[in-house]
Amino acid sequence: MPLNQDSLPSRDIRDKLIIGLDLPSVAEARAVVDRIGEAGTFYKIGYQLAYAGGFELARALIAEGKKVFLDLKLHDIGNTVEEGVRSVARLGATLLTVHAYPQTMRAAVAGKAGSSLKILAVTVLTSYDDNDLIEAGYAPVSAAELVARRAAQAREIGVDGIVCAATEAERVRGIVGPDRLIVTPGIRPAGAEAGDQKRIVTPAEGIRLGADHLVVARPIVKAADPRAAAEAIVREIAGA
Ligand code: C5P
Repeated sequence: MPLNQDSLPSRDIRDKLIIGLDLPSVAEARAVVDRIGEAGTFYKIGYQLAYAGGFELARALIAEGKKVFLDLKLHDIGNTVEEGVRSVARLGATLLTVHAYPQTMRAAVAGKAGSSLKILAVTVLTSYDDNDLIEAGYAPVSAAELVARRAAQAREIGVDGIVCAATEAERVRGIVGPDRLIVTPGIRPAGAEAGDQKRIVTPAEGIRLGADHLVVARPIVKAADPRAAAEAIVREIAGA
């Protein structure tokens, strides 16, 4: 049975769950947001929805008091990144991803100056293994080494946080220290289908491993009852 609004955990706890609106249209995303209601306070908009009207939806959600994570994984020359980040900051988003190249991270930190936007660095895409890095022209370096190097650079440059698998969260925390955000996808409530995620943990484990926010998409937005699915995860987070 869904909880009524009064019995939902506090806003701070609900904000730990970031619901990925991985849907093809604003109409579908809006329908899911409306069904989730007060159980959902923080939404992620990625490529799929961003390029299908998602920026307007982001503005609307922010106006309604929701937080928005724009997962745009920016990477370009410094000036372009800086101006792009400035526009995202003006829109009122809470989180934005960039690739963890030093030039890009420095430009992003400059672009968000004076705003409440937080920059998250994507170190090495989780679909890349050591061979993909060699194919892309990197001198032999393991993905794990590159994650560690880029996490350290992100900390030095003053990026606000890192996106990584929950299974890497403890290691990344050791590199970036206690003050940076760690945001982790690959979360599956017990019994949910893994889909294409390989290194999955439950919401409670994700929090115990040190994640500040958990990103969950399909187990909520494809659920028969998205509100009940979101509430169950929020309750599990509160319990952890
Ligand atoms: O449906 P699911 O919960 O697996 O979605 C996870 C979300 O997190 C997706 O939007 C996916 O793009 C994103 N993500 C990820 N792994 C990364 C970075 C982002 O799954 N390394």
